[in-house]
Amino acid sequence: MNTQDTATWHPVAPSADLRAGDNIVAGFAAGQELALWRAADGSAQAWENRCPHRSVRFTLGQVIDNRLACAYHGWQYAAGTGQCTSIPAHPAMPAPRNVCAKTFGAVEAAGMLWVQLAPATLPAPPTLTDAVPAGWHFCRTLTVRAPAAQVREALARHGLAADQTTGTWRGLLGGTDTAALVLDAQPQLAFVHLWTDAAPGNPAMQTLHTAARGLRSAIEALG
Ligand code: FES
Repeated sequence: MNTQDTATWHPVAPSADLRAGDNIVAGFAAGQELALWRAADGSAQAWENRCPHRSVRFTLGQVIDNRLACAYHGWQYAAGTGQCTSIPAHPAMPAPRNVCAKTFGAVEAAGMLWVQLAPATLPAPPTLTDAVPAGWHFCRTLTVRAPAAQVREALARHGLAADQTTGTWRGLLGGTDTAALVLDAQPQLAFVHLWTDAAPGNPAMQTLHTAARGLRSAIEALG
């Protein structure tokens, strides 16, 4: 992982995908596999998707209040710090203080969860709040089996333009006013979060869905 990857705030998932004290969402950013979840107190969490005990994926586990419990031996880790708080097989033993899940910086802005692949020490830039215009609606996340750079080239060919401040691509897609956030997930995998001013149920939303699928086909056909 290079310095650029650790400095970047990656748009990993719509905030609405994470329910407080409930689900765990699998994510990626710059090749890093993530477990995304929301503690019962409402705080969003982005962790390496590996339990520090025996490396089982956290996404197989469950959220218990403000803790994440691993599916294998049930060790529990605290939101925020990732500190191990309990080992069910040894209830009388204090949890080892040196065992921590690897946590990343996570903030919510413009309806998205953004993750920085570094410890949560730096504040997120305020420009993230402008990444999606206020009042716009989430349409879908498009999964594209191609490098993110190829996706950005395709958006430019379709006439969308990147806002240099926020990194958001803006323009018409299928005739619908669109904001696109491109996530570099893996070397050959990108996600494109699409937002529009068209409300759910508006035909323009369906038009955008169709245009997005066409865009993906065109990109993946380039091989
Ligand atoms: S592998 Fe997670 S608790 Fe053992």
